[in-house]
Amino acid sequence: MTTHGIFITVAGLLWLLLPVLGKPYEGSPLFSRANDTSCRCYPGDLCWPTESIWNEFNKTVGGKLIATTPIAAVCHDAHYDESECQHLEDVWYVPETHIESSSSIMAPIFANRSCDPFLPPESPCVIGAYIRYAVNATAESDFQATLKFAKTHNIRLVIRNTAHDFLGKSSGPGALAIWTHYYKSLEVIDYADAHYSGKALKASAGIQVGDALQVAHDSGLVIVGGTCSSVGLVGGYTQGGGHGFLASKFGLAADQALEWEVLTAEGNILKASPSVNPDLYWALAGGGGGTYAVVLSLTVKAYPDQTTSTANLTWTNTGITQDLFFEGVRTFAAGLPSLLDAGTASTWLNSNTSFSASPVVGFGIKQKELDALFTPILDNLQQLNISYDYSSAEFPTFLDMYTAMASYCETALFQVGGRLIPRSILLNSLDDFTDALRQISDMNTLVSGVTFNVSKAPDIENAANPAFREASVSLLVGTYYNYTNWGEDIANQVLMTDKIVPMLSSIIPGGGFSYLNEGNPFEPNWEHVFYGGNYERLQTIKDKYDPEGLLYARTAVGSNRWTERVDGRLCRL
Ligand SMILES: Cc1cc2nc3c(=O)[nH]c(=O)nc-3n(C[C@H](O)[C@H](O)[C@H](O)COP(=O)(O)OP(=O)(O)OC[C@H]3O[C@@H](n4cnc5c(N)ncnc54)[C@H](O)[C@@H]3O)c2cc1C
Ligand SMILES: *[C@@H]1O[C@H](CO)[C@@H](O)[C@H](O)[C@H]1NC(C)=O
Ligand SMILES: *[C@@H]1O[C@H](CO)[C@@H](O)[C@H](O)[C@H]1NC(C)=O
Ligand SMILES: *[C@@H]1O[C@H](CO)[C@@H](O)[C@H](O)[C@H]1NC(C)=O
Ligand SMILES: *[C@@H]1O[C@H](CO)[C@@H](O)[C@H](O)[C@H]1NC(C)=O
Ligand SMILES: *[C@@H]1O[C@H](CO)[C@@H](O)[C@H](O)[C@H]1NC(C)=O
Ligand SMILES: *[C@@H]1O[C@H](CO)[C@@H](O)[C@H](O)[C@H]1NC(C)=O
Ligand SMILES: *[C@@H]1O[C@H](CO)[C@@H](O)[C@H](O)[C@H]1NC(C)=O
Ligand SMILES: *[C@@H]1O[C@H](CO)[C@@H](O)[C@H](O)[C@H]1NC(C)=O
Ligand SMILES: *[C@@H]1O[C@H](CO)[C@@H](O)[C@H](O)[C@H]1NC(C)=O
Repeated sequence: MTTHGIFITVAGLLWLLLPVLGKPYEGSPLFSRANDTSCRCYPGDLCWPTESIWNEFNKTVGGKLIATTPIAAVCHDAHYDESECQHLEDVWYVPETHIESSSSIMAPIFANRSCDPFLPPESPCVIGAYIRYAVNATAESDFQATLKFAKTHNIRLVIRNTAHDFLGKSSGPGALAIWTHYYKSLEVIDYADAHYSGKALKASAGIQVGDALQVAHDSGLVIVGGTCSSVGLVGGYTQGGGHGFLASKFGLAADQALEWEVLTAEGNILKASPSVNPDLYWALAGGGGGTYAVVLSLTVKAYPDQTTSTANLTWTNTGITQDLFFEGVRTFAAGLPSLLDAGTASTWLNSNTSFSASPVVGFGIKQKELDALFTPILDNLQQLNISYDYSSAEFPTFLDMYTAMASYCETALFQVGGRLIPRSILLNSLDDFTDALRQISDMNTLVSGVTFNVSKAPDIENAANPAFREASVSLLVGTYYNYTNWGEDIANQVLMTDKIVPMLSSIIPGGGFSYLNEGNPFEPNWEHVFYGGNYERLQTIKDKYDPEGLLYARTAVGSNRWTERVDGRLCRL
C-alpha cells in the first residue's frame, strides 16, 4: 500500500499505521528484556518496576503518583457509565477536560483510538498509547524524585504541562510523566541585568497564559502570551517560540525570556540566562519543549498595559461566486503588511464558505486609528461588491480585550500541518498564495492564520526558528478528526503530508519552514523545517545537558536517534 511507503520514512510513528505483528504488546516473555538499555523498559518487561517498587516510589513523592485510567474509560465496557460518558462527550472539545486529567491529550491521533469516547462501549479501552503513570508534581522535590526514578529504571520520561501539543510531545506509551499543571507560582518582580532592566514576571512550570495575564494586569502590566488562555506559559509555548496578539509590538514569547530555572537530566538545578549557561538559555528560548531540561520557572519581560482596540471582519460566500469570495481573501492578504507594520496582530479563519479575521488587535492603538488602517481593505471589498461585516471596539486594558475576544478555545478537533508564510509572499506572490488557500479549503479543511511581525531581532539571540523573522503569518491547516473513522484520519495524514503542506511549500522559495508547534507531526524533513538551520547546534547543547538522552519528545531535538516501535516501545536507532 502506498500509505505505508510514506510513513516508513517517518521513523518512530510506524505504530500508528501498522497492525500488530505477532505477540501482544504487553506481558509477553518473548518481548521481555532485563537490562537492555537500547530500549526504554516497557510495561510487562522483567525490568518494569514491580507493584511494590511503584508503591515505594509513591511514598517518596508524598502519594502524588497517579496510575493512568484514561478519562473515557467511562465510555467503555469495564467502567461504562452512560451519563458520565455523555457528559464527557459534551465537554470533549474544551481544553480543561484534558488539562485536568493526568493522561488525556488534545491531539487525538496520539491516543491511538483507545478509550475513544465516541466509539461504542465494546471498542478497545487499554492504556496502550497513553502514559502509564504521572506524578502530580507540586514541589521541586517531586520533579527530582520522578526524574531520578525514570532514570534508575530506564523508563520513558515525559514532561506534561497542559497537553495542548499538536505533535504528541507531551504523551507516550509506557511513560512516566512529570505532570506540572499544579506547580503554580507567580510573582511580579523588578529585574535588572546587562540586557534589560524593568518589570518582569516570574512564572513556575504550571502557570498558564491566562494566570499570567491576570497577575500582570493586576499590576498594570502585560506579557506576551498566546491567543488561548489555557496554553502553558513556560512549557512548549515559550520554548517553541510562541506567538500571540502582542507579538507585533514586543516579539515572540521566546524573545521575552530573561532567565530560566531548570532541573537537568543529571539532576542538577541550574539557572540559564544570557550570562549564566548562555547556551542552555539560547536553546530553551525557541528550540522546542521537552528535551534540554525540565523547566521549573521562567522570568519574562513585562510591559505597561495600554488601551487596546480590536476589529472583526467577516464575510461568507452566500450569493457570490467562489472566484469573488477568494478575491476578497486576496484583498485582505494584500492589506496585511500595512496592518502589521502598524503593530497589530490577528487571528483569522478561512474555509471555502467563510472568512473571518477576528480579532485584529491593536495594542496602544485607538479604535479610530484601527478603523483608518482598515479603510483601504474595506474600500476594496466594497469595490468588489462583497458584503462584509466589520465591527471594531476599544478596551481600557489588554486583559479586558482578551477576556472579551479569546476566552474560549476549542480543541481536539483537528490534525494539523502548516507553514510560516514569508512577508515576501504577501508582497510578491499573492495570486499563488490565494490559489493555494483556495485549493486547500476545498479539501474539507479549516485554515487558521495567526499574523504578526516579529522581524526585529531580539535583544538577546535565541533559537526560535529564524524563519519567524521573515514571516507574516503562521498558517495552520486542520483536517477534521473523525473519532469514528480511523481510515479517514489516516487518509487525512497522507493528504496533509503529500498534498496540503507541499502545496504551501511550493509557493515559498526553498520550500519554507514551519513553526515547530504548528507543524505536521509527520513532516518528512522536520529537522530542517522546524528548526531552520539550528538543529546541529541545538543537538550539541542537548548532548551537553542531557548526555544520556533521558529526555525525549516526538520531533524534539535528539528524537531522531530513537524510534517508536509498533508495540509502543521506544528504542535507540
Ligand atoms: C487550542 C490551542 C491554541 C493555541 N494557541 C497558540 C498561540 O496562540 N500561540 C502559539 O504560539 N501557540 C499556540 N498553540 C500551540 C502551543 O504553543 C503548543 O501546543 C505548545 O506545545 C503548548 O505548550 P504546553 O506546555 O501548554 O503543552 P504540553 O502539551 O503540555 O507540552 C508541550 C511540550 O512542551 C514540553 N514541556 C512542557 N512543560 C515543560 C517544562 N516545564 N519543561 C520542559 N519542557 C516542557 C512538553 O514535554 C512537550 O514537549 C495553541 C495550541 C492549541 C491546542
Ligand atoms: C540489571 O540491572 C540491575 C541494577 O542495575 C542489576 O542489579 C542486575 O544484576 C542486572 N541484571 C542483569 C540480568 O544484567
Ligand atoms: C499513591 O498514594 C496515594 C496516597 O496513599 C494513593 O491515593 C494513590 O492511589 C497511590 N498511587 C498509586 C499509583 O498507587
Ligand atoms: C495502537 O493500536 C494498534 C491497533 O489496535 C495496536 O496494534 C498498537 O499496539 C497500538 N499501539 C500502542 C502503543 O498501544
Ligand atoms: C493534583 O494536586 C493538586 C494540588 O495538590 C490537587 O488539587 C489535585 O486534585 C491533584 N490532582 C489529581 C488528579 O490527583
Ligand atoms: C515589520 O515591520 C517593519 C516596520 O515596522 C517593516 O520594516 C518590516 O518589513 C516588517 N517585517 C515583516 C516581516 O513583516
Ligand atoms: C452587487 O451585488 C448585489 C447582490 O448581492 C447585486 O444586486 C448588485 O447588482 C451588485 N452590484 C454590482 C455593482 O455588481
Ligand atoms: C469578534 O470576534 C471574536 C472572536 O470570534 C468574538 O468573540 C467577538 O464577540 C467579536 N466581536 C464583535 C464586536 O463582533
Ligand atoms: C467546499 O469544499 C467541499 C469539500 O470539502 C466541497 O464539497 C464543496 O463543494 C466546497 N464548497 C464550495 C462552495 O465550493
Ligand atoms: C465520520 O465517519 C463516519 C463513519 O464513516 C461517518 O458516518 C460520519 O459522517 C463521519 N463524520 C464526519 C463529521 O464526517
